[in-house]
Amino acid sequence: MKIGVLKQTAAGETRVAMTPDSIKRLMDKCPGVEIVVEKGAGDGAFIADDAFKGVGAKVGTTKQAWEADVVLTIHPPKEAEVKNLKKGALLIGLLDPHGSAKLFAALAKAGVNAASLELIPRTSRAQAMDVLSSQANIGGYRAVLEAATHLPKFFPMMMTAAGSAKAAKVIVLGAGVAGLQAIATARRLGAIVEAFDVRPEVKEQIESLGAKFIDIDLGETGAGSGGYAKELSADAKKKQQAALQERLKGADAVITTALIPGRPAPVLVTADTVKGMVSGSVIVDMAAANGGNCELSKANKVVVEHGVTIIGHTNYPAMMPRDASLFYGRNVLNLLQLLLKVEGKASTLNLNLEDDIVAGCLAVHDGAVRFGTKK
Ligand code: NAI
Repeated sequence: MKIGVLKQTAAGETRVAMTPDSIKRLMDKCPGVEIVVEKGAGDGAFIADDAFKGVGAKVGTTKQAWEADVVLTIHPPKEAEVKNLKKGALLIGLLDPHGSAKLFAALAKAGVNAASLELIPRTSRAQAMDVLSSQANIGGYRAVLEAATHLPKFFPMMMTAAGSAKAAKVIVLGAGVAGLQAIATARRLGAIVEAFDVRPEVKEQIESLGAKFIDIDLGETGAGSGGYAKELSADAKKKQQAALQERLKGADAVITTALIPGRPAPVLVTADTVKGMVSGSVIVDMAAANGGNCELSKANKVVVEHGVTIIGHTNYPAMMPRDASLFYGRNVLNLLQLLLKVEGKASTLNLNLEDDIVAGCLAVHDGAVRFGTKK
């Protein structure tokens, strides 16, 4: 059984889908597994080819990595690359299921199976495989560092011989994985933190991190299923935008992380709200790739509008590729242990659709697209 690790070619990507640490663990646990890492795959994460060789992986050509039984990637391949995969192979990665209808059709036609890591269910058992969470955690941390770097003042309160500076006020919108990490990081940097989420159950988690929960009466709850939010009614959206317009006038930094799976990012910060904010304040819009939580953010750009710096980076994990790759690789390792059956000295692929995690993430199987169809 061969597992190939592809070098990522997407612009700005520095991560690699498996690091020597996870490769070693996988080879220890699954006998008969051979790993082929594409030459230079770890370069962006400062992991040399020799480090992969050191744990027993082979460093091979692009073709050799694509030809494996299981192929690991981070970004979806281009449709033209599907022909590089062999029939019956399994492709694993963040395959963008909501934007990959054509790719999935091509994979099904080529008889390639595909596990889309975004579709791993958010359950306790699946936590160790939850790439979205591990990467959002890194994103939430990095987003706050970005805000602190762009803010023309301190995050912590500073008392110096030259006078005192007040602690910055940070508002975090959306308190899921990225939001909770943003709150914790901003608190560690000494900021005063407030946070809001449409799921009332996160109030306690926000408070346990030392932040204040912003109470906005929307007249409805945004709690959806599986730990995710559902879309608000038009009326509740308006109420939220109006309440935040007032609240954000007093903020130095705003980190927005609101997400509804499969939907464009909800707009929480309107252009008018930005206009009313303090000059020099900063908005980090973590949802910029998906339309943005702020009306004025631009994906992959830092812009200044009405004196407010708006940051729209879309790949914070790639700014911390060493740990991001480590976590990604560990998540994939845990998933692989579920997908491989070990018998004696051999490991084989075992795609058991009776298992809710396998059934959840297997977007393409046996020549058919499963994602978006009734399973
Ligand atoms: P999550 O699903 O864990 O959290 C999203 C939170 O937003 C939930 O708690 C949800 O209740 C809340 N929410 C939904 N609608 C809301 C509204 N109208 N007002 C307030 N809160 C609302 O998602 P996660 O993993 O924390 O990701 C958050 C965002 O960050 C996503 O858009 C994700 O794509 C993005 N992200 C961006 C990265 C980057 O590099 N820019 C890296 C990782 C994640």
